[in-house]
Amino acid sequence: MNDSLAVTINGPALIFGGNYSNLEATRAVLSEAKRLGIRAESVVCTGDVIAYCADPLATVEIMRGSGVQVVMGNCEESLGQRLNQCGCGFEPGSTCDLLAIEWYDFANRMLDDDARSWMRCLPRRLDLDIDGRRLAVIHGGVQRINEYIFSSTPTDIKRKDIEATGCEGVLSGHCGLPFTEIVDGRLWHNSGAIGIPANDGTPRTWYSTITPRHGKLCIELHPLDYDYQITSRKMRQAGLSERYALALQTGLWPSCAILPQHEQVLRGHALVPYRVDW
Ligand SMILES: [Fe+2]
Repeated sequence: MNDSLAVTINGPALIFGGNYSNLEATRAVLSEAKRLGIRAESVVCTGDVIAYCADPLATVEIMRGSGVQVVMGNCEESLGQRLNQCGCGFEPGSTCDLLAIEWYDFANRMLDDDARSWMRCLPRRLDLDIDGRRLAVIHGGVQRINEYIFSSTPTDIKRKDIEATGCEGVLSGHCGLPFTEIVDGRLWHNSGAIGIPANDGTPRTWYSTITPRHGKLCIELHPLDYDYQITSRKMRQAGLSERYALALQTGLWPSCAILPQHEQVLRGHALVPYRVDW
């Protein structure tokens, strides 16, 4: 397993994460990269390729064939090592924890040894050099792959993590909700997830682009439209939980147990695309 890699990106980058076995969303985001003229080497996934939806193996295969960069998520860590649980860090006995038993078991049955071998070889961290600025790509927190770092997480935690990387900023995933924070002039950015909506009451999911422009990096959050009705139908046909199949349609998560108070209050409030010049 590689612990860290460095990649130089010339021109714009596309950042996404949390495919969650959602094949239709994965195809859509890869199509977006092509439409925007962003080469596969400049597309980076922050992990959790596998989780709630019905196409774990096909999603791994399309990601492997795409040539994009992928950082290991806790789901790849757990499935790659055949651990008995997803490692998402859900509260024991919570709705998410109980639902995870089902989708994790499903994914475990669907994946082959080749897919697990790919997961084990994913880097836990990838350093991107974009226009002379170095960003560390991780899944959750710098020290812990399944650490939930939200917009409302104290800035001091983000500051210490950024300092620990030695980079000018961090790109992370895992929590499923996009946000951008400038910490003492350095960057923390989470592009959200493409595989499940952002608990904002709309079925859209989210990805980001980072574009060098006039000496700054322009970070833009974009909605991803894809055919979520197909994805939901496949989940029901596979016998997976109705709760997540419905979440793709309503845009509301089955449970808010992992969310801090600030993010709980925002449930059902439609996100808007934004741009930050950094
Ligand atoms: Fe995760």
